[in-house]
Amino acid sequence: MNRREWVQQAATIAIGAGMEGRLLARGAGTASVANRMTAGSKTFPAQFLWGAATAAHQVEGNNINSDNWLLERAPNTMYKEPSGDACDHYHLYQQDINQLADLGFNAYRFSIEWARIEPEKGFFSRAELEHYRRMLEVCHRRGLTPLVTYSHFTVPRWFAFQGAWENPESVDLFARYCDKATAHLGDLIGYAATFNEPDMPYLFHWTHLPNIPAGMDLPGIMAAGKAQLRKYLNAPEFSSFFLGDAKKSRENMMAAHSKSKAAIKAFRNIPVGLSLAMEDDQPEGADSGYAEKQADVYGPWLNLAKQDDFIGVQTYTRSRIAGAKALPPPHGAELTQMGYEFYPESLEHTVRFAAKQAGVPVIVTENGIATDDDTRRLEYIQRALAGVKRCIDDGVVVRGYIHWSLLDNFEWIYGYAPKFGLIAVDRETQKRTVKPSAIMLGKIAKANSL
Ligand code: BGC
Repeated sequence: MNRREWVQQAATIAIGAGMEGRLLARGAGTASVANRMTAGSKTFPAQFLWGAATAAHQVEGNNINSDNWLLERAPNTMYKEPSGDACDHYHLYQQDINQLADLGFNAYRFSIEWARIEPEKGFFSRAELEHYRRMLEVCHRRGLTPLVTYSHFTVPRWFAFQGAWENPESVDLFARYCDKATAHLGDLIGYAATFNEPDMPYLFHWTHLPNIPAGMDLPGIMAAGKAQLRKYLNAPEFSSFFLGDAKKSRENMMAAHSKSKAAIKAFRNIPVGLSLAMEDDQPEGADSGYAEKQADVYGPWLNLAKQDDFIGVQTYTRSRIAGAKALPPPHGAELTQMGYEFYPESLEHTVRFAAKQAGVPVIVTENGIATDDDTRRLEYIQRALAGVKRCIDDGVVVRGYIHWSLLDNFEWIYGYAPKFGLIAVDRETQKRTVKPSAIMLGKIAKANSL
């Protein structure tokens, strides 16, 4: 499909994002027998994956060989605070995975940390691979299907020093890491995702980011930050996922996805895909660039995903696009701690869109809300799930719902303030407290029904 056709198709589907247009998007994906059997009831298809997600850097703690560890500590860093011990999930994983299973879930999505597994170029740590093997074993013992992400934003320092994804060598280096990790862990992996949200750098061009000072844009801030960092580190090539040249990085990451998928599948036919950051794009005004945005940000990845086993959808809110820019949330709209509009229906719309475009089963690999008020999380989950169920009833193949996040954790540049967790973490004592939303979602998971 060429770019023009893609834009046209995206436009048709996005018009279907509104209530009145939803019928247009009906029938997206392929109806399965399981879907038809559960239509009209509150029950989800058999073997539906119900889980919660984490990412290594955000929960493990002391990820000292990663690029992020440096970024968090650089002068004038954008990070509000360093990740430090995080939730010490590196040591407390057993307790956390047990808790997830006790609550009634049947899946756990987490990432393995390349910076631990290959802390120096070419040295693969068997001890660290064994750590992840133990995590996978606990999942299996407790009846949780593990969904493993091979790269969730962070990269090893040495990789950052040689230009990260801007460097064409990144393709082979990532494939080699995937090959080694799969050789050690592959027999225990349920679903594999090469990359988490590789479309993020393009998305930034289109996103309304409330916490960015007026008059500045994120790509500009990133470019200036990279120049400063290179100087400070005396490292002329230094780059990272977020700081990299978006175009070059995307080319290399797309090639890396295909090459590493082949490496993973050479070991065993594990279902492989990737997950995308998606907003529910809604047109505002006659000259809305929403279809351009969809072609620009998601298009190349959704095309690539056509050859994958699934597409991971990660959605938090909607985006109203006027011209080439996203508008701020409507006046008076309820906002989350991230400044996003409270808009759980965004999940239904993006699931339909991704299924239609990629034509492969969808797994909701992230969806959630940053809030101190857990009653808002309860409502968000219920409304988001009702939307997922409508998709399924209409024949869209959705294999699972994985909530972000299992734990209150390190929310990147925003530090520990935003609370996305189903479980609260006291960062002094590392004591966990289960929130009512965890109990409610666990009950839904156990019943496989709303
Ligand atoms: C990322 C997570 C992040 C979450 C909430 C996603 O973009 O994959 O790492 O914590 O959104 O902002």
